[in-house]
Amino acid sequence: MKRFLIAGNWKMNKLSEDAEEFVRGLRAKMLPNEKDVCILAPFTLIAGVGKALEGSAIGFGAQNVHFEESGAYTGEVSVPMLKELGITHCIVGHSERREYFNETDDTVNRKLRALLDAGITPILCVGESLEVREAGGEQTFVAGQLIADFSGLPAADAAKVVIAYEPIWAIGTGKTATPEQAEEMCAFIRGVLSGVYDNATGDSLLILYGGSMKPGNAKELLEKPDINGGLIGGASLKVDDFAAIAMAAASL
Ligand code: PGA
Repeated sequence: MKRFLIAGNWKMNKLSEDAEEFVRGLRAKMLPNEKDVCILAPFTLIAGVGKALEGSAIGFGAQNVHFEESGAYTGEVSVPMLKELGITHCIVGHSERREYFNETDDTVNRKLRALLDAGITPILCVGESLEVREAGGEQTFVAGQLIADFSGLPAADAAKVVIAYEPIWAIGTGKTATPEQAEEMCAFIRGVLSGVYDNATGDSLLILYGGSMKPGNAKELLEKPDINGGLIGGASLKVDDFAAIAMAAASL
């Protein structure tokens, strides 16, 4: 049976009251696939979300982390700090961090290692810009990100990384990749990592699609053989929309 992960990326949204109301609402939906759902919250909300999720199988986590354990890194948050809150997942290398906050493949690689060492599941984002796609370079670009981001990771660790293919031109734009475009790239990603590691590792990877996924288009994307779920921004802010996407995965 195909495995799924439906991950909500709240980005820089919500205050605690709204976040906790969302969690109560999500739990009330009694999703049959709670263990395949997680919420990535801003740092300030993580503890409250974790508390509100106690006794539920829904995962939760952060949208970024620093790779050092502690030290003079003003404004940063480390893996042990997040581990203490009980997080299960953490986004790494989101295109907004790569674009606005100088995230590089080297820092992404270090963050992946730090999270894996702590037993937290990284959700690694990759994806090309519109210029790259229009020039036909999307596969070369994404393969380059994968090779650099996974550099030095043994197969046993690589298999634990969730990958989210998020074409930058589809994020927050309302312009979704077609199911065929998304499937083509997710299959390509699986192939690249099967080549770097082996087929068993490639086959076991969870590969998500992200970019304007919503209740109206989730099913046709999630039905594709190489798409194991979604990283959902805008549509993860409303509990009904997010739950509808989780239900679409549960129905497959
Ligand atoms: P979006 O964001 O669903 O709002 O396009 C997805 C993401 O950036 O993770």
